[in-house]
Amino acid sequence: MKRISVNASKTYNVFIGDGLLGRIGELITPALRGGTAMIVTDDIVGPLYLEGLKSALSGMGPYVYTHIIPNGEASKNADNYVALLTAMAECGLTRSDTVFALGGGVVGDLAGFAAATFMRGVGLVQIPTTLLAAVDSSVGGKTAIDLPQGKNLAGVFYQPAAVVCDVALLKTLPESVFTDGMAEVIKYAFIAETPLLERLKSPIIPQLEDVIALCVSIKRDIVCADEWESGERKLLNFGHTMGHAIEKCSGYTISHGHAVAAGMAIITRAAVNAGLCPPEVAQMLEELLLQHSLPIDTHFSAQELASAAYSDKKRSGKNVFLILPESLGRCTIHEMPSDALEEFIAPALGITTQKGGER
Ligand SMILES: NC(=O)c1ccc[n+]([C@@H]2O[C@H](COP(=O)([O-])OP(=O)(O)OC[C@H]3O[C@@H](n4cnc5c(N)ncnc54)[C@H](O)[C@@H]3O)[C@@H](O)[C@H]2O)c1
Ligand SMILES: [Zn+2]
Repeated sequence: MKRISVNASKTYNVFIGDGLLGRIGELITPALRGGTAMIVTDDIVGPLYLEGLKSALSGMGPYVYTHIIPNGEASKNADNYVALLTAMAECGLTRSDTVFALGGGVVGDLAGFAAATFMRGVGLVQIPTTLLAAVDSSVGGKTAIDLPQGKNLAGVFYQPAAVVCDVALLKTLPESVFTDGMAEVIKYAFIAETPLLERLKSPIIPQLEDVIALCVSIKRDIVCADEWESGERKLLNFGHTMGHAIEKCSGYTISHGHAVAAGMAIITRAAVNAGLCPPEVAQMLEELLLQHSLPIDTHFSAQELASAAYSDKKRSGKNVFLILPESLGRCTIHEMPSDALEEFIAPALGITTQKGGER
């Protein structure tokens, strides 16, 4: 088991290992002292792992309630948020009680936002069950729900009391959901100089625990340096301005990870074209993405992507922030007028894509 300590506005541990769900009591005892526990999960993860979590908590004394939402992004909405707050109130949760988010990023973001806002904040333990949640959404304290006008429009920064990542839970992930998480893993390899890039050249499954731990420590370092995203934390958005534009243009039929993969490849080729990044970086990124069956291009036009990006919440005034690689493991933040974006990305679009690779 690995333990990564996060010293943000709240100090907490991220535990990563095989079989940790059954040991959750001993791992989080300091974070949970009796009282009441509210487990939030979805209708796919619940039947797989809810009983395991309940029995692991049973020896610890809390009265355990459960709240199950339908799986999928559509559940991260205001109705489900209010329904969860209502359930928490009806169960009599107090500020000394704890919400357990058992699931992927959807459950984590919704349960996190509810935990952050119910009585101005109750305890929160994240138990990520997707690769994306393990390496990204469960750590760092961003919580949110979607509004009809856009994704993640209502949310707060709220650090959990602990994160327990049991890699055994990832074994039941459908291939495409696992692959979505790989896009974020590859992202980390290009924003920080660590052994991660080298490791990704070999099959992932045998080294999953180490790879997740490397990603979490990269995110930890960035979050601790800039918890409220005024600067360095923007590096975590590598590939995301284009990725969000692709998701939006597709009417959200293209998943986040697949869109971010294409977004990273496109923005890196654009940086190469502008003389800001050596071609070897783009080549290595594309090889890795293809090796993990992720896309490196999109059929949307530069004009469609630029106008979708212009309405993205990450733009600041009339400018967009772009995260551009400048060497292997190093990215920098560039601010660019929104109306220059279309011309910047146009030469990077329309290349031939292929698929393949071993996971
Ligand atoms: N808070 C943050 O910092 C942050 C960062 C990145 C992404 N996010 C958010 O995360 C969400 C995406 O998260 P996600 O990719 O985990 O999607 P998800 O939570 O929708 O999970 C994907 C699918 O996998 C299923 N699933 C989950 N765990 C499983 C398991 N162990 N076995 C079998 N099936 C399982 C789920 O039921 C769902 O159908 C988005 O809403 C995004 O905005 C948040
Ligand atoms: Zn992402």
